Amino acid sequence: MILKGKRALVTGGAVRIGRAITEALLAEGAEVIVHFLTSEKEAGAFWPNIIQADMNDPAQCETLLERTAQQFGPIDILVNNASVFHQTRLIDATYDAAIKELQPNLLAPLALIRGFARQTKTGKIINLLDRRVTSHDTTCVPYMLSKKALEELTKLAALDLAPGITVNAVAPGAILPPPKDRDNPAWEYAGTIPLSKRPTPADVAGAVLYLLKSDHITGQTIFVDGGQNLLET
Ligand SMILES: NC(=O)c1ccc[n+]([C@@H]2O[C@H](COP(=O)([O-])OP(=O)(O)OC[C@H]3O[C@@H](n4cnc5c(N)ncnc54)[C@H](OP(=O)(O)O)[C@@H]3O)[C@@H](O)[C@H]2O)c1
Repeated sequence: MILKGKRALVTGGAVRIGRAITEALLAEGAEVIVHFLTSEKEAGAFWPNIIQADMNDPAQCETLLERTAQQFGPIDILVNNASVFHQTRLIDATYDAAIKELQPNLLAPLALIRGFARQTKTGKIINLLDRRVTSHDTTCVPYMLSKKALEELTKLAALDLAPGITVNAVAPGAILPPPKDRDNPAWEYAGTIPLSKRPTPADVAGAVLYLLKSDHITGQTIFVDGGQNLLET
């Protein structure tokens, strides 16, 4: 796909990795609609191409693609980037704790993918995973479930929506600490990276662009983690 002139929706696209994806798409000449929840000020940089929705609210997830089409026209590209991350061990993974992660990280992308498929027969979808989908991090059980299931959804949707729509994923390693962990030296370590260098948000955006440009790749995940997913932890 040639990205110039295509319309993309990037969820959580105002800050951090989402912003790098937004900026990379803009640099390719795409029109980007930036979804946000709380980052209204940062999203303002992209005004008027901004739209707010709470991924914790299933009704707002169901209608986001329709609202986007009404305001800006139908989209060609959907990037499911918005996400939450909580450290919750199995023993604390109550229904409420689990749904807090599964709703925005898995059920929201599912609703948006369905909305996309209702609107168009051709296009591209990217889901943001986590390099830990290949391992078993017991410190964040609901989060792990949400990202592992999103990887499976990527494959199911890739098959179901072929031949017109490709569905792929990018799995970042430790790129940016959660804001509350910015000064936490434990995060700074974040495990061994075989390639020694920590990838940047721009590296993640580069993988997103690569998958969006290809018309021959679907159901795949690119790990942008310096090889961390190959290790046991
Ligand atoms: N950072 C990393 O090192 C890392 C590592 C592995 C995987 N990833 C994955 O890469 C993607 C981007 O990472 P990130 O660290 O940049 O993400 P992030 O800062 O944790 O979250 C991205 C955005 O999600 C939006 N969001 C959160 N809850 C929402 C809700 N209920 N409704 C609507 N939007 C909501 C927020 O938008 P507002 O700011 O507008 O509220 C937030 O800015 C995520 O899918 C993440 O899981 C990141």
